[in-house]
Amino acid sequence: MISTVYSAGIYGIEGYLVTVECGLSNGLPSFDLVGLPGAAVKESRERVMTAARSIGMQIPPCRKTVNLAPADIKKEGAVYDLPILLGLLSALGTLTEPLPEDSVFIGEISLSGELRPVRGALSMAMAVRDAGKRCLFLPRENAAEAAMLGEDLVIYAVAHVKEILDHLMKRESLTPYQPEPRIQTGLEGQPDYRDVMGQENVKRAMEIAAAGGHNILMSGSPGSGKSMMAKRIGTILPPMTREEKMDVVRIYSVIGEGQSAAATDCRPIRSPHHTTSAAGIAGGGKGIPMPGELSLAHNGVLFLDELPEFRKDALEVLRQPMEDGVVSIVRTAGRVTYPAKFMLIAAMNPCKCGWYGHASGRCRCTPSEVRAYRSRLSGPLLDRMDIQIDVRPVPLKDLAERKPAESSEAIRKRVVAARKRQLERYQGTGVTCNADMLPAQLAQYCRPDAAGQALLDAAFQRLGMTARSYDRVLRLARTIADLAGEEQISAAHIAEAIQYRNLDRAH
Ligand SMILES: Nc1ncnc2c1ncn2[C@@H]1O[C@H](COP(=O)(O)OP(=O)(O)OP(=O)(O)O)[C@@H](O)[C@H]1O
Ligand SMILES: [Mg+2]
Repeated sequence: MISTVYSAGIYGIEGYLVTVECGLSNGLPSFDLVGLPGAAVKESRERVMTAARSIGMQIPPCRKTVNLAPADIKKEGAVYDLPILLGLLSALGTLTEPLPEDSVFIGEISLSGELRPVRGALSMAMAVRDAGKRCLFLPRENAAEAAMLGEDLVIYAVAHVKEILDHLMKRESLTPYQPEPRIQTGLEGQPDYRDVMGQENVKRAMEIAAAGGHNILMSGSPGSGKSMMAKRIGTILPPMTREEKMDVVRIYSVIGEGQSAAATDCRPIRSPHHTTSAAGIAGGGKGIPMPGELSLAHNGVLFLDELPEFRKDALEVLRQPMEDGVVSIVRTAGRVTYPAKFMLIAAMNPCKCGWYGHASGRCRCTPSEVRAYRSRLSGPLLDRMDIQIDVRPVPLKDLAERKPAESSEAIRKRVVAARKRQLERYQGTGVTCNADMLPAQLAQYCRPDAAGQALLDAAFQRLGMTARSYDRVLRLARTIADLAGEEQISAAHIAEAIQYRNLDRAH
């Protein structure tokens, strides 16, 4: 007797439909699993047999063969426990009803028959929908992410195998999952820009960065508030569009954090420590490579505090994704490409001791030591930083006054308005912010007026700008004009944008 059950798998963040065939025959008792199963899939055999016993279902000793198709993709994870169990019970005739053709089953099973969450549920749900299936049975914890697909799929959130058996044998029906309405935005109780005294120019730069998705590098002496300001960026970022959020949840789902990612509209913020390895930044690991920090920061922020302290190879892997918005990881198990379109916020001291340029004259570094410290950052990396800004220590007057500064909420309103202009401008092109503008869009939307163009040309000569930084200045000026609610880029916008290219000057 042979039965067929539909399930799903993931490779990177791409989901695909899996057909699980279970065959039973007489002969010496055995349990073979074929179709490129990984270690966790092979262990399914023990889990399934024990779970079947504990829910009172007898699987008699016989020859059992389970085939997972397509056979050429390596299967990982414990997703197939549920379809294998259902397939065996169906082949045995224990299930009194035939398995529905339009339904797909995924889930790990505990020894007592409870369903455990799996990784990649949203991507699998998308594949299930695209394959034309209508119903998806999956562990309760994965329901919220899969439900992001809306009306396209009927989702059944299941806590125990018994619930599915009762449903399939028409003893007691499951009700389709309904997502709970969300009330919180996720911004409640986060530290606010209101606490940051003075530093108006840096906060302005942060606002521009947030509005257009630009990279920003802050350089300044210890205690000047760089980390403090960077940590508050989440409170002024515009909310994600539906598509942006889907991509984020798909990535987090691969590392098993889809449920919490689905519960918030806030953009992800990652701040890896400077000891993080290149593989930790780019992604990797045993088996099918997992997403790294770059991908976990997709559509959000990658905050690298103490930038020059990062390992050289870890900084190198940033370069290509910063240009392409994707990261490719090649391992023996295969090649995987993950999205990695993030806004980079970096902070650094101007020299090893940290005090170079400080009014106290405390710095004891020699000019060559200062140069050596800065040269840890390669030219190509600096060139990718749209905004480069010196953070000066807060004047005592500002600190002593402790007058609450402008709130994050007020800044965010302006950022959201500027981002809305961008979304409307780039509608249907896949681009969502000025930093990601395509070359054709740059030519179309970034034409400064005559005075602005003259200013830019002069700066190009004087600062020895590269073609890339020239384009980046234009993009930045576009955002500054958007914040001002103006369609025409003027000399004032260009002037402000150029002023943020500090390091072009220093090098
Ligand atoms: N503008 C400011 N307004 C209020 N408090 C500030 C300001 N700048 C710094 N501080 C105070 O100083 C502390 C240290 O600031 P922060 O850690 O951001 O400095 P930093 O520039 O990152 O220094 P380092 O280079 O050592 O990392 C903050 O936690 C805050 O208490
Ligand atoms: Mg700091």
